Amino acid sequence: MMQKKRVRLTLLINLFVYCCFSGIAYSQTQTIPLETKHHALVLQVSDQQDVRISYLGRRLNRVAEYKSIPDTYKQSTDYTGLLNSAYTPSGSRNLMEPAISVTHADGNQSLDLRYVSHEIQQLEDGISLLKIALKDPVYPFEVTLFYKAYFKDDVVEQWSEIKHDERGAVTLHKFASANLHLKASAYWLRQYYGDWAREMQPEEEKLTHGIKVLDSKLGTRANLFQPPVFMVSLDRPATEHEGEVLLGSLQWSGNFRTDLELDPQNNLRIISGINNYASDYSLEKGEVFTTPVFMYTFSAQGKGLASRNLHNWARDYKLLDGHGQRLTLLNNWEATYFDFNEEKLKALLKDTKKLGVDLFLLDDGWFANKYPRNGDTAGLGDWEENRSKLPNGIGTLVKEASANGVKFGIWIEPEMVNPKSELYETHPDWVIKQPKRDEYYFRNQLVLDLSNPDVQDFVFGVVDDLFTENPDLAYIKWDCNAVIYNAYSAHLDNQSHLYIEYVRGLYKVLERVRAKYPTVPMMLCSGGGGRVDYAALQYFTEYWPSDNTDPMERIFIQWENSYFYPAIASANHVTDWGKQPIKFRTDVAMMGKLGFDIVIDHLNDNDLAFCQQAVKTYNGIKGTIWHGDQYRLTHPRENSVASMLFVDKAKEKGVLFNYLVNNRYDEGSHLPIKLDGLDPERNYRISEINLYPGTSSPIAGEQVYSGDFLMKIGFNPQVRKARESVILQLEAE
Ligand code: DGJ
Repeated sequence: MMQKKRVRLTLLINLFVYCCFSGIAYSQTQTIPLETKHHALVLQVSDQQDVRISYLGRRLNRVAEYKSIPDTYKQSTDYTGLLNSAYTPSGSRNLMEPAISVTHADGNQSLDLRYVSHEIQQLEDGISLLKIALKDPVYPFEVTLFYKAYFKDDVVEQWSEIKHDERGAVTLHKFASANLHLKASAYWLRQYYGDWAREMQPEEEKLTHGIKVLDSKLGTRANLFQPPVFMVSLDRPATEHEGEVLLGSLQWSGNFRTDLELDPQNNLRIISGINNYASDYSLEKGEVFTTPVFMYTFSAQGKGLASRNLHNWARDYKLLDGHGQRLTLLNNWEATYFDFNEEKLKALLKDTKKLGVDLFLLDDGWFANKYPRNGDTAGLGDWEENRSKLPNGIGTLVKEASANGVKFGIWIEPEMVNPKSELYETHPDWVIKQPKRDEYYFRNQLVLDLSNPDVQDFVFGVVDDLFTENPDLAYIKWDCNAVIYNAYSAHLDNQSHLYIEYVRGLYKVLERVRAKYPTVPMMLCSGGGGRVDYAALQYFTEYWPSDNTDPMERIFIQWENSYFYPAIASANHVTDWGKQPIKFRTDVAMMGKLGFDIVIDHLNDNDLAFCQQAVKTYNGIKGTIWHGDQYRLTHPRENSVASMLFVDKAKEKGVLFNYLVNNRYDEGSHLPIKLDGLDPERNYRISEINLYPGTSSPIAGEQVYSGDFLMKIGFNPQVRKARESVILQLEAE
């Protein structure tokens, strides 16, 4: 009897799962769960054919029970279920913030979207794609929703495709990528603001009813005031280890907009996409508008796990060469600014070798002749070597670098132009500016109109010419220092397409660069950290978090970035910013991809010896930092000592960075700091590394503890005023 019952139940479940995953359209209510390892997004099709999100949260043990999740929205004839619509249309039965809003070819502004069909495809091992087709019952207008689930990382990417078959163009007023719904007793938003040299300043607050908008209208360098990354904790603020939290971001290198609407029924609606500010999009019949991707990860074990999931996902699927190597370097920007010549650079190449890093990076100022680039007021756009600074060209320097046993990289800012340049004189129509208004500058420059294919060819040509003339060039730093003022394109018929077409144009160029030069490392820089997102990082191996390299500030900036981006992508340079000694500055820069931007000649013997040894030490631990798991142990905003741990995937090696961030009362680490991510059964030998010449460590002798002990009791790195920065190495025995 029992046996029979079990068989029936199994059959029922199988039938349910089949219905869920087979892609068959039903007129009855149906449930469409999308699961990752620990998380589920559940969509429900109502008998009205509305597609709603009925659940986003922890995965259930039994798939069959997703259909029993109660609708958290009050449903009645007055509330037709559009409050938790999977893609909220406007102008018909919905009065909440829409995901999509249109004017049809006949001038009508109403849109309704009903379920047509769905299918789930297994794209590759561990990645599935759910597609849901929606259609307006009155107009030939269709939207397909895409949900791509990365099983092991608990990451979901969402986007949509919009198309129609109307008798003329349809205007899209809003066209979000994602429309999510969360249900909790309260919601805490962690968001970021910033400015030049003050990137990634966090604020965390409880959301109140109404709409909170995170957005950018800067066009290029979109992150300058506000990056697209955010976190939402459910019920209570999540910590590193505890709490339910969603980390999300739009993958788009231009204007973005994320609405977080706490609705009257205490549900949180998250709608994210390209910012529709000044961007009505005229969609032609048959044209498909594909939104950028919104991605999120959901963790029920706090922010730490969420961030490690994102790091793994980024290294596996997004960041260019995420599992590869990176080049340590010496950059000349702060060492010389614009004041250099061939002789000086040749000396710097020797310094690069002396320091022991892999590459010399020549920064801004190497180009332009009619209006030489001797400052930031002229020359941008004229990408031929400046003859008085570099009479023998870049080629000679590349060869000289090679003779010194180092590689050579170069800075470019190909999207921009100074009005004082030959490029501007020849192609004023390539520049974004209003025809009837005064020009308005950001860092004395203007933005080129990348919506124009001729400009795309030009920008691609800047990169291509450099590599064609110097095939041994090993690295590019791609800068972007201005925002878009006076948005107007001489190329486009429809001006409200400019912000979108600019970014599309940028991606077309980057696609071409990567098709021809797939592996060359490139740094994504934007007057500091003005442009960092996962769409751009598909083309770049690393990003520049901030021009602020004061190590104390960098601890905070790198800390916040580390929630969203893996350390291998964070380009950190040792400079003369800040009051801390060279050891402190170097230790902080080591928590990512190490570089230097100092005058080697100015270092005293001990400082030089320290830096040379530090590069060697770094070469021994960089694999753990780049490819391991990152654990934020003690937060610099809440403790006197900030501690960050990296553990390799085999749990055999660890690197623990510790910094005194508050020394008002010499508040060092008086107590042990609990470690994380170790194998409890293994013993770890702890030793201090990267010591300054002539100093010794109080952490000496036999320091062997089990992973269990280190995670439950901890270890005191003995950080105090005389030891403001301490790096410990862990080696499993
Ligand atoms: C801004 C960047 O952030 C700096 O590192 C440097 O490359 C300058 N631009 C050069 O103009």
